[in-house]
Amino acid sequence: MKFLLCNGSPRGKNGNSGILVDVLANGLSENADVRIEKALLNRVGEHEQTAGTLAAADCAIIVFPLYTDAMPGITMAFFEKLAPYIGSLNDLHLGFVVQSGFPEKIQSRAVEKYLERLTGILGAQYSGTAIFGGGMGMGKKRLDRVRKLGETFLPDLVFDPLLLDRTTGMDRLSPVGSKIMKVVASMPLIQTPWIRQLKANGAYDKRDDRPYAQ
Ligand SMILES: Cc1cc2nc3c(=O)[nH]c(=O)nc-3n(C[C@H](O)[C@H](O)[C@H](O)COP(=O)(O)O)c2cc1C
Repeated sequence: MKFLLCNGSPRGKNGNSGILVDVLANGLSENADVRIEKALLNRVGEHEQTAGTLAAADCAIIVFPLYTDAMPGITMAFFEKLAPYIGSLNDLHLGFVVQSGFPEKIQSRAVEKYLERLTGILGAQYSGTAIFGGGMGMGKKRLDRVRKLGETFLPDLVFDPLLLDRTTGMDRLSPVGSKIMKVVASMPLIQTPWIRQLKANGAYDKRDDRPYAQ
């Protein structure tokens, strides 16, 4: 059975998505007859070729980080390369892993809805979306869960719904947790790297712009 695992992070192999792809592959490899190919979607010039590999696979799982509440642009660009295959993907099973820095699962729910809809538009079989909040904490517990998702993916080619429920502890922070987060997020330790990047890109004065508000 042919699997394609795609890493949709702009950071490629060096990011958290790369770690999750490797761990997922280890879990899947516990099953006999699984052949796994991996693709880095930050190699934008290879998107057309990767789309062809996906179309010829039995199953593809796309792992990507949440960037500003959405998927990275390179992941979206790759999905657009799948358009020519609409109508020929009925036997393909398509699953997703979305991981993010902040702990709440809820911020990934909109993209999760999109992924299910995308699978329908492509005419493929939806294997589910695993959402991992708090990507900065890539501890053993998290990696064990991802590995288990891979181990149990076969024979039905879907993520185990019970495991999907246990990916991340919370859908939303509690009211107290939310207040603490507000204080933590306003601390210089958290803010300084963002401010530095805004300044380096000449965007600091535009940080409160709301171009779609009018
Ligand atoms: C430009 C940028 C935007 C981000 N936006 C979000 C966000 O909206 N919500 C969130 O929880 N994490 C956000 N993060 C954190 C990443 O989702 C998190 O660090 C993730 O583990 C990165 O995965 P990667 O190393 O595979 O790229 C952002 C990170 C970057 C660099």
